[in-house]
Amino acid sequence: MSGFRFPLAAAALLALSSCDRPWEDGETYPFTSTDSVTDFNEAILRLYGLVTWIDAIVLVVVAMVYFYTIWRWRDDGTNRKPEQVHGNTPLEIAWTLAPVVIVIGLLVPTVRTIFELGDAAPKEALEIRVIGKRWWWAFEYVQSGIVTANELHIPAGRPVSLILESDSVVHSFWTPRLGGKRDVIPGRQNRIWFTHTDPVLAGAPVTYRGECAEYCGESHAFMRHEVVTHEAGEFDAWLASMAQPVDPGTDPQVLAGKEKFVTTGCAGCHAITGNDQAKGILGPDLTRFGSRQKLGASTELNTREMLVQWIMDPNSIKPGTTMEDNHSRGPAGANDGMNVPGDDPSVPGTQVSKEDAEAIATYLHALK
Ligand code: CUA
Repeated sequence: MSGFRFPLAAAALLALSSCDRPWEDGETYPFTSTDSVTDFNEAILRLYGLVTWIDAIVLVVVAMVYFYTIWRWRDDGTNRKPEQVHGNTPLEIAWTLAPVVIVIGLLVPTVRTIFELGDAAPKEALEIRVIGKRWWWAFEYVQSGIVTANELHIPAGRPVSLILESDSVVHSFWTPRLGGKRDVIPGRQNRIWFTHTDPVLAGAPVTYRGECAEYCGESHAFMRHEVVTHEAGEFDAWLASMAQPVDPGTDPQVLAGKEKFVTTGCAGCHAITGNDQAKGILGPDLTRFGSRQKLGASTELNTREMLVQWIMDPNSIKPGTTMEDNHSRGPAGANDGMNVPGDDPSVPGTQVSKEDAEAIATYLHALK
C-alpha cells in the first residue's frame, strides 16, 4: 500500500496548487499561481512546465523498465532465471551519463530564469515600497509619495517594481496570479518586478487576492491584501486622486464623524490626506478608505455593518490586532484610548461606543 502513498500525495498537492477557493462571503477569486497575468509569473511557469515534463518522462521510462522486468521474470512455475552477469560497462556509463545530462538540462534553464528574474528593474518602472507590518501591508509609491494600505493599485502594461521591507517580523508577500512569493525580512530589501501583461479594459479594473505566506504571529491568517490592476490611463487618474486632499463634503453627520475620528483617538494612529489632524503612522493610512473593497487587511468586505463592528471590536474580526490594544487599554488617568509605552494594561481605556463608531464609519465611508 505504502507504494501508492507518494503518487496520491503528489496528486493531492497538484490539485491544491491550482484550486479556486471561495471566500467566506461567497465571492470567488481565482486564487491560483498557474493562471499567469504577468511576465514574471509566465517565466516561472515556463520553467515549472519544463521541469514537470522532464520529470514525467523520467518517471514513465523508469516505470516502464520496472514493470517490464517484473512481468518478464514473473514466476511461471518453471523456475527460470535471467542470465546472471557481473558488471556491464556500457550500461554503467549510460546510467551515470543520463542523470548528468538530465540535471544539466534542468540546471541551465533554472539558472537562466533566476538571473532573468533577478535583473534590475527598468528605470521607468513604477516603484512601490511594500512594508510588512503586524498584521497588514503598507504601500508607498516612491515617485509620487502617496501611501495606501492593504489594497495595492498597479497599472497594466507598465513595469512595476516592488521593494519589500518589514518593520516587524518575517512576512512573505504573495499574490498567486502575479507570481513570485517572496519573503519580507526586517533589515533588508527584497525585490520583485513585473509587468501585468494581461490586458485590462478601461472601466474594468481586475482584483487579485493575496496572502502573507510566512507565519508571522497571531493574526498571520488575517494578513491579506488585494492587488487592483487598472488600465494605464485609469491608474494615472487613481494616483492623481490619491495625492489630492479628500473632501468629505458638508454633510453634518460626516463632519460630526470627522470630529469623532479625532476625539476618539483614531487620528493618533491613522493618517488621511486632507485631514490635518490625522497624521498617525502606527496604523494603516485611510486616505480614500471609502473606496476600498475590504477592511482589516482584506479580512472582511468594507460594509458599514462590518466597519462599525471593526471600530468597536476589531479583535472579533482579527484576533491579536494591535488596534484592539489601543481601545482596551488606556494610560492611567488619561482616557484617550491610546496604547503608548508606559500604559497600564490593567486600566480600562476607551471603548468606542456604538454611536461614535457609527459616526466614524459615516466619515470614513465618505472618503472616496
Ligand atoms: Cu505576515 Cu504572516
